[in-house]
Amino acid sequence: MLTAESLVPDPSRPDRNLALEIVRVTEAAALASARWQGRGDKEAGDQAAVDAMRKMLSSVEMDGTVIIGEGEKDEAPMLFNGERVGTGHAPEVDIAVDPVDGTRLLAEGRPGAIAVLAAAPTGTMFDPGPAVYMHKLVVAADAADVVELDMPIPDLLAAVARATHKRIGDLTVMMLDRPRHDEFKEQVRHAGARLNLIMDGDVAGGVSAAWSSRPSVDLLYGIGGTPEGVTTACGVHALGGRILGRMWARDDRDRSDLVNAGYDLDLVLDTHDLVASDDCFLACTGITPSELLRGVAFDGDGATTESLMMRGTSGTVRRVRAQHRLDKVEAYGG
Ligand code: FBP
Repeated sequence: MLTAESLVPDPSRPDRNLALEIVRVTEAAALASARWQGRGDKEAGDQAAVDAMRKMLSSVEMDGTVIIGEGEKDEAPMLFNGERVGTGHAPEVDIAVDPVDGTRLLAEGRPGAIAVLAAAPTGTMFDPGPAVYMHKLVVAADAADVVELDMPIPDLLAAVARATHKRIGDLTVMMLDRPRHDEFKEQVRHAGARLNLIMDGDVAGGVSAAWSSRPSVDLLYGIGGTPEGVTTACGVHALGGRILGRMWARDDRDRSDLVNAGYDLDLVLDTHDLVASDDCFLACTGITPSELLRGVAFDGDGATTESLMMRGTSGTVRRVRAQHRLDKVEAYGG
C-alpha cells in the first residue's frame, strides 16, 4: 500500500541505482583529463581526473570508503585507500576508483583510456593490499560455467568455443601486450584463435569480454592489475559473465610480501570473492575513443561524453551520451 512514509525517498533503499549518480563522477574525470590527450604527461592527465573525481564525489549521497584508490595516504594526497567519500549519508559502500585506466594511452593519444568508478556494499570488495598483479580470465555468461583459470589454453579455448557455438578460429582473446605473455600468446596462436593485443586498459577489456552482446571479445586473459580485477568484477556482476583471478608475484620479494600480508597465492578468486555482493555498480566514461566507448569530443560550446552504467542486482546496462556546457567543463578542470 502506498503510504505517506513510502513516498519519502530513502537513499539506503535497495533499489536505488547508484550507477546513475556515480556516472557524473566518471564524466567529470573524463572531461577534466581529456585536455591532456596526447600531450605526453601521464601524471598531469591522471591528476586532472583525480581532482575532478574527488570534487564530484562529494556530491554523491553515500557514505563511501575508498578500498581501491590511488595508493596509500602518504603517497596519494587524494582518493587514497581508506579515504571517506560522498556526503556521509547511507548507503555505506566500498569504492573503487580508477580516474584514468590507461594513463599512458591518454598521454600518448591512443585509443582506450577510460575513467572508472565502482561501488559495492561496505565490506564486500576484496582488498588487494600489496597485490599489484593478478592472473585473470574473464568470459561472458555463455562460457561462465565451463572455464577454469588453470585449464591449459587449448582446452580453455575449446571449452569456450563449444559453449558459445563458435569455432576456435572465431574466438578473440584480448590480452595486454606484455613480454610476460609471450608463452600465452604462442599458445593462443597455436590453437588457432585470434588475438587482440592491447597496450593498456584491462578494465575495458574485461567489460568487453564479459558482455555477451559484444561478441568482438570472447576472453580477456593474462596478468594485469589486481585493483582493475576487483573493479571489473562489479561490471561482471551486472553483465552476467565470470571473472577468475589469482594473485601473481613478480619476484621472490613480491611473493614474500604477499605471503607475509596474509594472501594465499594459490587461491583462485571467483567473481563473488572479488566482490561479495551483486548489489554493486560500475560506471565508466570514455576519455580517448575506442570500440567500447566514444572519447570526449570538444566543440566550441562544450563537450560530449559517452558512458556506461551497470547495476549488479538488475543486470541493467545503460549507455548514455551527455552534452556538457563549456562553463561546466571548465568547472571540472577541463
Ligand atoms: P594505469 O593506467 O593505472 O597505469 O593502468 C593501466 C593498465 O594497463 C591496467 O589496465 C592494467 O591492469 C595494468 O596497467 C597492467 O599493469 P602493467 O602496465 O604493469 O603491465
